[in-house]
Amino acid sequence: MKEKLLALKEEAFALIENASDKKGLQDVKVKYLGKKGPITEVLRGMGKLSKDERPVIGALANEIRQAIELVIEQKQTKLQEELIQAQLESETIDVTLPGKSIKTGNAHPLTSIIEEIEDLFIGLGFSIAEGPEVEQDYYNFEALNLPKDHPARDMQDSFYITNEILLRTHTSPVQVRTMKKHQGKGPVKIICPGKVYRRDTDDATHSHQFMQIEGLYVDKKVRLSDLKGILTVFAKKMFGEDRDIRLRPSFFPFTEPSVEMDISCFKCGGHGCSVCKHTGWIEILGSGMVHPNVLEMAGFDSTVYSGFAFGMGPERIAMLKYGIDDIRHFYTDDVRFLEQFKRA
Ligand code: PHE
Repeated sequence: MKEKLLALKEEAFALIENASDKKGLQDVKVKYLGKKGPITEVLRGMGKLSKDERPVIGALANEIRQAIELVIEQKQTKLQEELIQAQLESETIDVTLPGKSIKTGNAHPLTSIIEEIEDLFIGLGFSIAEGPEVEQDYYNFEALNLPKDHPARDMQDSFYITNEILLRTHTSPVQVRTMKKHQGKGPVKIICPGKVYRRDTDDATHSHQFMQIEGLYVDKKVRLSDLKGILTVFAKKMFGEDRDIRLRPSFFPFTEPSVEMDISCFKCGGHGCSVCKHTGWIEILGSGMVHPNVLEMAGFDSTVYSGFAFGMGPERIAMLKYGIDDIRHFYTDDVRFLEQFKRA
């Protein structure tokens, strides 16, 4: 009996030692100390023992029982400590590791150019005016001296939504809307940046959607020389102090006279190179003196008021300034392109 108990003890100790988790320990406990376990069985069979043996075996059985309980408890504590240790190790923060750098975006090159141009004109006393991209035929064409059958409408192939509504082909309708708001009283001194749409086939220099910035200054005694002065300041600020400008006669239905502005080539200084196509000059924008019909239709007395207007494409300005060879780069969102325009 005694040997049997000692053997049980060894067996249980070995199992406890090898147990790897709480559940394993619990199993050992149930197996050896439970109601149906071998030790309980020994205690139950004590009646069959002799009087001398009974207390000895009883004491031994209890002792073994307590020893097993103790070892289980110790093992449990040990397992718990190991668990905590493992957790601590897995959650350790290495404070000497380098930090993760946050990737910041940057302004789109077109946004930067538009803001630069806006700032320049705000500095010259202009304010910014905006208007709808879905526009009435009236504001986009008619009020700009382009009646329905006017052949110059072909200059701007349009996206019509209905007979009377279209996607604006230029930002000039904002000029009409703003002049109307002024109810015949000057000065009106605005620039109108915004998206415009034309039925062009997309290629390196054309896009069905692009940006425009138009300017308008209406007041008493505004002259072509004022336009020339403002455009000269613009050319020098955008393309360098050494720039000259020249005005060439042109045609727009809403201006009379109309002129095209060129700047002396910023690349070759006017000697001729590939950027200026060997002419020494680069075409930048269209402009002119606001046509009396346009002033009258917008509610201004054309015998008292006069004005100038100009319109430019910021894409073209950015392409020239940064040497970009394809307008589609602005709209295809290739980060390799965009990342080159981080502002200082
Ligand atoms: N609206 C004209 C265009 O889109 C540009 C322009 C504006 C010309 C103002 C003259 C005066 O082509």
